[in-house]
This record gives sequence, C-alpha cells and structure tokens, in this order.
Amino acid sequence: MELEQQVAIVTGAASGIGRSIALTFAAEGASVLIADIDEAGAQETVRLIEAKGGHAAATRCDVSAPKDVQVALEQAQARFGTADILVNDAGLTTGMPFLEFTEELFDRILAVNLRGPFLFSQAFARALIAHGKGGRIVNIVSTAAEAARINAVGYCTSKAGLAHLTRVMALELGPYGITVNAVGPGMTMTQRIQQNETVSTAYQRAFLKEVTLGRPGQPQDIAQAVLFLASRHSAYVTGQVLYVDGGYTAGKLSVQG
Ligand SMILES: NC(=O)c1ccc[n+]([C@@H]2O[C@H](COP(=O)([O-])OP(=O)(O)OC[C@H]3O[C@@H](n4cnc5c(N)ncnc54)[C@H](O)[C@@H]3O)[C@@H](O)[C@H]2O)c1
Repeated sequence: MELEQQVAIVTGAASGIGRSIALTFAAEGASVLIADIDEAGAQETVRLIEAKGGHAAATRCDVSAPKDVQVALEQAQARFGTADILVNDAGLTTGMPFLEFTEELFDRILAVNLRGPFLFSQAFARALIAHGKGGRIVNIVSTAAEAARINAVGYCTSKAGLAHLTRVMALELGPYGITVNAVGPGMTMTQRIQQNETVSTAYQRAFLKEVTLGRPGQPQDIAQAVLFLASRHSAYVTGQVLYVDGGYTAGKLSVQG
C-alpha cells in the first residue's frame, strides 16, 4: 500500500473528484479527514471508506473561513495525528458573461478556489514545520488555469492563480521538505457534470472534440495522479502542474487542421 501510516486531509471530498481521491487514499492505507461544507455528503464518503475497512472522519469546513480551517486541522490531529498530506480540492464554478459578472460572485469564487487553498496550505505547513515533519500538498486546478474560457472569469482567474500559488509555495516550502504540486483535470464525469449542472451538453461536446484520447476523464483518472503526487514515488517533484486531460491542453495553444 502506498500511503500506509499516512494521514491525509482532502477538502471538497463530499462528492465528485474529491470523494474519489479520499477513497483512493484510504484504499492505499491512509487515514482521511474529509473537510467539506456538505456534511451529509462528507458523512457518506466516510461510510463508503469504512465499508471497505478504511479509516476516515468528516468535519464541516468552509475552506474560505480561517476558523473552520483551524478546526479541521485540529480534528485531523485529534483523530489520526498530524496530517502528512493536504489535497485542496474544494472548488466552485459558475457560468456568467464577463460584462454581467457580479463583484459578489467574483469574490466568492476567489475566496473558495484561491483564498481557501492559501489559508489551508499555510496552516497545514505551519503545523508540519512545528512538528519537524515534511509533507505533501496537492492543489486541484483545471485546464482553465492554462486555457482561458468564456463565461468563466472567476473560475479561470482563480485556477490560474492557484497554479501560480502552487509554484510560490513550492519554492518557499521546499527547504522544509514539503512538496507542492497541482493536478489539472480536463472534463471529468462527476455527477454534477453528468447532470449538466455546471457546463452544458454543447460545451461538453465541443470540449471532447479536442481530447485526443477520445473520452472524458473519470474521477479515478484524477485520483491516480493525485496519489502519485502524494506518494513517495514523487519525492523529487515539486512546483509542477500535471494536466490529466486526455491531451486537451497539449494542442490548445496552436491552430489545428
Ligand atoms: N469535474 C470537472 O470536470 C473538473 C474539471 C477541472 C477541475 N475540476 C476541479 O475539481 C475540483 C472538484 O470538482 P468536482 O467536479 O468534483 O465538483 P463537485 O462539485 O462534485 O465537488 C466540489 C466539492 O467542494 C465542496 N465545496 C464547495 N465549496 C466549499 C467550501 N467553501 N468549503 C469546503 N468545501 C466546499 C462541495 O460541497 C463539493 O463537495 C474543483 O476544484 C473543480 O474546480 C473539476
């Protein structure tokens, strides 16, 4: 098992990609704290992990609130001991044209997608350093960090910021033995995507035309990449963004034909 004796905190693991990451980590021997605003979903992830003999707990946490972040770290410590791995997966997206985008919406998306990982990573890194331990941070960005998209100014800006936050943190935390990397999913078939809650069917078709592997991603595709970056196999990798997108970003900045 890849993560035996490890303690991981996964934000946004009440559903979708985060749940798949939590299940994958637990199957590899990690004890997992699920930090999410969706308490029922978080409890369901715990149930799914425990049903397979794994160890998990849930805490209600809004990643944009410093107090909640502190409580989550304390919960992990109390239940399982000092955490070794942090995955910043919690994220929000809303489609709206730039000219109509409200200040409130922009602030909220930035607060969850960028301020949240900043706050969580800072508190997590401080705890690791206080315990004299190295660790791993993995941020979930998006192909939108690389390729701008219409009607998604908050999302694109937050994810591009998170990709660069990843690099800055990698530089500053490297001397403490903490690696910081990001995974950038392409279109990944979570329940919300399948039910067209976040992007339209037309958008999904257009996106897929540019995916050379010819299929959308599955949450498990993303979870395996996150597992690599959380495991000993990536000991010398830091400050990187790994796109797991079926080839979408490889051709994105050139004209095809
Ligand atoms: N599904 C995709 O196609 C796709 C593509 C690229 C990137 N991503 C990124 O992957 C991550 C997970 O997305 P998903 O598709 O699984 O979506 P999802 O909506 O299923 O999961 C997001 C989770 O974040 C939680 N969350 C939202 N706001 C929160 C807050 N303030 N504090 C704590 N938790 C909060 C939600 O309750 C939910 O459980 C996000 O960062 C998203 O931007 C997804």
